[in-house]
Amino acid sequence: QIADSLFIINNFAREYFTKTLFETEEGRNVGLSYFEERGFSEEIIQKFQLGYCANEKDTFVKTALSKGYNLEYLQKTGLVSIRYEQPVDNYRGRVIFPIHNQSGKVLGFGARILVKSDRAPKYINSPENDIYVKHKVLYGTYFARHAIDKLNECLLVEGYTDVISLHQAGIENVVASSGTSLTQDQLRLIKKYTKNLTILYDGDAAGVKAALRGLDMAIEEGLNVKVVLIPDNEDPDSYVRKIGAPAFREFVAENKQDFILFKLQVSMRDAGADTQRKSQLVNEIAETIARIDKLEDFTKQQDYIRQCSQLLKIDEEGLVNLVNKYIRERM
Ligand code: GTP
Ligand code: MN
Ligand code: MN
Ligand code: MN
Ligand code: MN
Repeated sequence: QIADSLFIINNFAREYFTKTLFETEEGRNVGLSYFEERGFSEEIIQKFQLGYCANEKDTFVKTALSKGYNLEYLQKTGLVSIRYEQPVDNYRGRVIFPIHNQSGKVLGFGARILVKSDRAPKYINSPENDIYVKHKVLYGTYFARHAIDKLNECLLVEGYTDVISLHQAGIENVVASSGTSLTQDQLRLIKKYTKNLTILYDGDAAGVKAALRGLDMAIEEGLNVKVVLIPDNEDPDSYVRKIGAPAFREFVAENKQDFILFKLQVSMRDAGADTQRKSQLVNEIAETIARIDKLEDFTKQQDYIRQCSQLLKIDEEGLVNLVNKYIRERM
């Protein structure tokens, strides 16, 4: 019941914000030129139903109330809050990214400030409510489903704009975790479509860290995980714009790394000559390999053991025993 009302309000807001973007002077001068400066085509702006919220305190909420929408529910969606006893728009002066569910209904919004500032967050995202449960949602699934199905692979990026830019570059099998760490529910969502997950995270330390965090969880879900590190100070959006779509596809194809080997390389670099850290690392890798379902993927497990023992310069037999120990512990 509440859910239906929230969907209806979000749908109204989505339409209102796209109208503002295309049909008002402020929308065109400020919002639309922002998107154009970022290189978004009109077609892609329309496909993702991007919008703009006017930079006045209550343009949206006034219209919504005059159409009979309920103030309490408007607050629940995060579109509106009460300041000094007056309802105000929360996204004023921001460009709007609707977040759709798998069938295209709007669960919530990301609202981006136009000029970065120390005084306000870059993005404001909808709060959790009856329809928007963040840990179950991945941005872009509605637009990516068919491509994921067809290519039997899902690309995972960090941000809304990464998804949109890749679509514009003709890469459509892509969803975003929206800056939060990946959850088991999100991985299950991906697994409904494909077992092959490729993580394309920003090339900064935070991106590497976030990529590593997903590993054990993804393996436990039975996914084949690969990772592509985008060069430092770039993200998929900026990088595809910089080098162009064909070169970007080539970059992804050539830099796809197996996740376990990626993890091992990063950890070995961190461990350096520290022998205690290294033996801890051997244990961690053995435990990770043990998570691969042996019956389902026996050869894969053996491959990992061989490649990891080579990388770690340790006896293969020893690693086999250690992996078996962890497998027994898990039973
Ligand atoms: P652009 O700067 O517009 O290109 O966005 P981005 O996607 O590159 O942003 P960034 O890499 O900094 O963050 C990735 C994702 O994290 C964003 O798409 C948002 O979903 C989320 N995020 C970023 N900044 C904020 C913030 O200030 N608050 C919240 N709640 N989420 C944020
Ligand atoms: Mn859950
Ligand atoms: Mn980043
Ligand atoms: Mn970006
Ligand atoms: Mn980014």
